[in-house]
Amino acid sequence: MSTDAIVLLKNDHKEIRKTFRDFKKAGENATATKGKLVDKMIELLTVHTYIENEVMYPRVRALLPDLEDDVLESYEEHHVADLLVMELVPMSYDDERFVAKATVLIENVDHHIEEEEQEWFPKVRQGLSRTQLREIGTELAEAKERAPRRPEQPSALKKTIDAVIA
Ligand SMILES: [Fe+2]
Ligand SMILES: [Fe+2]
Repeated sequence: MSTDAIVLLKNDHKEIRKTFRDFKKAGENATATKGKLVDKMIELLTVHTYIENEVMYPRVRALLPDLEDDVLESYEEHHVADLLVMELVPMSYDDERFVAKATVLIENVDHHIEEEEQEWFPKVRQGLSRTQLREIGTELAEAKERAPRRPEQPSALKKTIDAVIA
């Protein structure tokens, strides 16, 4: 299995986007199906946001100072997604705002993933060596194992609190 950091993150993106597609394809009245898909996307996003916040962004920021502005913008985009996730978690699947809020989350994250893949990853790949990308990939894989899977888990709480008071 490849541990190249960008390959690993793109695989996460693929899995996340599949839940987005399935959500959009689910019928008008598929309340329970949509609710389960939102649970799944929240789990995937909690893990993915954690490993980017804890490993990818700080490593790239340190190694490629020129990309600092992109990293700072990414943290803010994660922050917006965190806020929407936190509002979705306690919401009932049949709340009239549930699908609307999930749709806004999907639009935001889609845009963010698009920017990472189209603009940011190519710059990172150009700036770092294959060895550096593999080392970061190994760290990402390790972080994935200890990552929180729900936003209310203790290791996600600091992130959650930062999102509220920052
Ligand atoms: Fe990200
Ligand atoms: Fe990402």
